[in-house]
Amino acid sequence: MSNYAAMNKGVVITGTGSYLPERILTNQDLEKMVDTSDEWISTRTGIKERHIAADNESASDMGAKAALRAIENAGKDIASVEMIIVATSTPDMLLPGTACFVQEEIGAKKAFCFDLGAACSGFLYAMEVARQFIAQGTINTALVIGAEKMSCVVDWEDRSTCVLFGDGAGAAVLENGGDVSGIKSSVLGSDGALTDLLNIPGGGSRNPVSHRIIDERLPFIKMEGKEVFKNAVRYMCDAGQQALERSGFTIDDIECVIPHQANMRIISAISDRIGAPLDRFYVNVDRVGNMSAASVPVALDEAVRNGRIKKGDKVLFVAFGGGFTWGATVIEWTA
Ligand code: ACO
Repeated sequence: MSNYAAMNKGVVITGTGSYLPERILTNQDLEKMVDTSDEWISTRTGIKERHIAADNESASDMGAKAALRAIENAGKDIASVEMIIVATSTPDMLLPGTACFVQEEIGAKKAFCFDLGAACSGFLYAMEVARQFIAQGTINTALVIGAEKMSCVVDWEDRSTCVLFGDGAGAAVLENGGDVSGIKSSVLGSDGALTDLLNIPGGGSRNPVSHRIIDERLPFIKMEGKEVFKNAVRYMCDAGQQALERSGFTIDDIECVIPHQANMRIISAISDRIGAPLDRFYVNVDRVGNMSAASVPVALDEAVRNGRIKKGDKVLFVAFGGGFTWGATVIEWTA
């Protein structure tokens, strides 16, 4: 794979949007729910609070709100959206795809729609799929969404995982940029030998829903925290370095790093290993927790809105999640 500027059509991000549910769950609230403390959660993860969706609020409801904001910021007509990809591990239903619910909610009648499952790396995977469709000339405009209702797959009796996650959605509009190539390079990777380290074992075709599966609490997240931590740092750094090489930039050219927001200690370790000071990282994990596939697009939208990313800036994204899956993307901000 080579630098995309030399290939096909350039692809640019023309608008971003995000949505966080109204309800905030603080570490102090969690102290009343499980045997934990603000001190433990803050020092181990950097998380202080997270947003939790309402009972009647699904991944598609949140995704649609983020999508409408992204389309408005891109200055596009909804009718011009030709493809919707929703990256999610918490779909509205097993069938149909969450992207079809989003399509109906926003009225993007001309789009074809599907979901993509790559856990916390899902948004970077979806962005690369959309980029390929546009670069090849199949479509001109895509809507890429990361939307998660993690609160419905978290075991609220398991203190080792329930403190980590939050709900929300982020979206980006990708368009044919002609000669202008905003997305410079991308690296994706997976290791299916490590599916046991982070998964939601029940509710799918391997362990279909039954009273026994529910009694064994299998429809909830299971995680080997220390192993996830080590692999997350290693693969996000390696992928980030490969994406930089393919883009022709070095880490010193990067004005802003947007990492998957899982844990402040993971972000600090990436900063040390990749050689970029922490103040060049955009961090919101303290306010929103880990929103899986929604983490990267929500952070991107915030960074754009609050001026952390400006026209001409080079941005490095790195993500890692269950599978394991990982990815890194280098862009130049052109909006
Ligand atoms: N409150 C208080 N004590 C707790 C809590 C809690 N919420 N959770 C676990 N503990 C206890 C454990 O029971 C253990 O007690 P013990 O020593 O008496 O057995 C002790 O704290 C230490 O537990 P460890 O699991 O060893 O703690 P560690 O320092 O590894 O931190 C953590 C755990 C925060 C999960 C860490 O491993 C981590 O961040 N891993 C990365 C996982 C991650 O972020 N996953 C998100 C999904 S994947 C992704 O998005 C990249």
